[in-house]
Amino acid sequence: MVVVTDKPSLCRELDGHRLTSTVGLVPTMGNLHAGHLRLVRKAKLLGDVVVVSLYVNPLQFGPDEDFSIYPRNRSRDIRLLEREGIDLVFAPSHEQMYPSGTEQSVTISAGPTGSILCGKSRPGHFDGVATVVAKLFNLVRPSLAVFGEKDWQQLVVIRQMGSQLDMAIDIHSERTERDEDGLALSSRNQYLRRKERARAPRLIATLRRAATRSAKGAEERDQAVAEAREELEVAGFAVEYVEVRNERNLQPAHDSGGPLRVFGAACLGKTRLIDNVPVPGSPLTP
Ligand code: PAF
Repeated sequence: MVVVTDKPSLCRELDGHRLTSTVGLVPTMGNLHAGHLRLVRKAKLLGDVVVVSLYVNPLQFGPDEDFSIYPRNRSRDIRLLEREGIDLVFAPSHEQMYPSGTEQSVTISAGPTGSILCGKSRPGHFDGVATVVAKLFNLVRPSLAVFGEKDWQQLVVIRQMGSQLDMAIDIHSERTERDEDGLALSSRNQYLRRKERARAPRLIATLRRAATRSAKGAEERDQAVAEAREELEVAGFAVEYVEVRNERNLQPAHDSGGPLRVFGAACLGKTRLIDNVPVPGSPLTP
């Protein structure tokens, strides 16, 4: 496995492969867990050469968010990726990614999808994600890339960016890896205190119940969402949203006949958790 930290070395390493191989990319912010390794394994199945990026992107964090304390563990990440048989790791510095600084950067707008759900409380977050992913796409020029389904809104934003900006990259997704009690794996789970960790699986349990009820029709859906919010508040969560939307374009459920998904975001203490679950009976998005 080769680890490169600058753009010229990345291009040099990839030049040899590009003509003969399918290059797959797994963008990550490092601090890898089993969820990331799932993405990596999928990319290995789909591509001949797999590039994993490790980069905590300042552009996607708000001023009061956790950029400075976001968990970083470069040497462990590299060990794990080596064990997975990854070909190339790109771990750039901020100077490599934003030579003019983040303030002076040309950025990509995530469009209207970027300002709903998580975008309401995290203005600019999805523009930051779209910008760094576009940069990684331009640097690696992969045929395919793999993203996790826990960040479903991110997946939709990236799919829309790819198709609307004619990027010609196949965007694949991989299902959420969960702890035994259902909690979706996330680097931010490390912030949970012991009592919060014990309560955290209630988020997915509540969303699952709301999803089952939502399958029964619009009236039941509205009630299920309202009750899910209440249940979470009673369990000590500060709820940001619980909503049912079309999973392909994130339009509100009542405006679309497509496959539906329940989305939720809520804080336990200082830790913000997100999750999503399909409404049973909705056709799956490939
Ligand atoms: O999902 C993530 O870890 C990040 O948002 C991504 C896609 C690597 C962009 O920084």
